[in-house]
Amino acid sequence: MRTSFFSRRTALRVRQAVISAVGSAKIKLVLCGCLAITLIVFVSRASSFTGWNEQAESPNLLPGPSKGYTILMNTWKRYDLLKQSISHYAECSGLDSIHIVWSEPDPPSDSLIKYLNHIILSNSRGGRQVQLKFDINKVDSLNNRFKEIKDLETDVVFSIDDDIIFPCSTVEFAFTVWRSAPDAMVGFVPRLHWTDKSKRNAENFIYGGWWSVWWTGTYSMVLSKAAFFHKKYLTMYTNEMPASIREFITKNRNCEDIAMSFLVANATNAPPIWVKGKIYEIGATGISSLGGHIEKRSHCVNRFVAEYGRMPLTLTSMKAVDSRNVWFW
Ligand SMILES: *[C@@H]1O[C@H](CO)[C@@H](O)[C@H](O)[C@H]1NC(C)=O
Repeated sequence: MRTSFFSRRTALRVRQAVISAVGSAKIKLVLCGCLAITLIVFVSRASSFTGWNEQAESPNLLPGPSKGYTILMNTWKRYDLLKQSISHYAECSGLDSIHIVWSEPDPPSDSLIKYLNHIILSNSRGGRQVQLKFDINKVDSLNNRFKEIKDLETDVVFSIDDDIIFPCSTVEFAFTVWRSAPDAMVGFVPRLHWTDKSKRNAENFIYGGWWSVWWTGTYSMVLSKAAFFHKKYLTMYTNEMPASIREFITKNRNCEDIAMSFLVANATNAPPIWVKGKIYEIGATGISSLGGHIEKRSHCVNRFVAEYGRMPLTLTSMKAVDSRNVWFW
């Protein structure tokens, strides 16, 4: 009787103790959570005070007085877009010069040249002199985009459409990726080729758009609308690539970017490098939204495979990511 009473009281005490322990553990958990949030807020604030942020860090990734890159921009009668993107890229610190590929019947107006030179001068930082050059073409062909440039100061070009904007930190990150693999094409817009298994006798390929890349996580090309590559590929495109490919491109008004991917893949026997980056498109949607796009592009791929006598593109799943922007490993 006594022992049972004692044990019941003990059990009661123990239960109370357990309940209060659970209560204090909950409070501790909440306190820890608050502390963690405070710390995160403090650190992220402090980083902007101490200059420990992306922009201040960026120059450290480019040590020494190394040469920068040249922007190679294709444009066609969209002067507002041209002004907007030139004005933006002039601020990027690795930029050395700007080449604008001009294929319109009329040469650029004096007022346009004056305006562009003015915004380049006022937007470029640190007293740099960014050169602006127009490459004026009599014939309108997509091959103009990859014409050899004789007086290029830098080893690398950043080939970019006039309607795509990347933050300078993203462009500079891609530039450092290119410097670690200077033979590769390094770009932001991946695409792939599928092997068509429905046709058994002949090898047939299908061009895969963004959704194919998203679905498979692999790619075999990066498009020249936003890519770094060595200037030697311009020389090869103009002088060494079979003329039949250039003629095909002029006639079809398409696929110069696929041809460049084939050329680099054939020369390196290696895949390109896809760099993660946020893309801001400032113009209306381009050619890829038109009907029959995949069929036309697939036709180009198969045509180029016939020209090369093999499929030079190789698939990869590697993606270069700026680790300063990644929280979890
Ligand atoms: C592909 O590369 C090889 C080896 O570098 C070269 O001999 C050949 O001419 C290239 N093919 C084409 C079609 O350019």
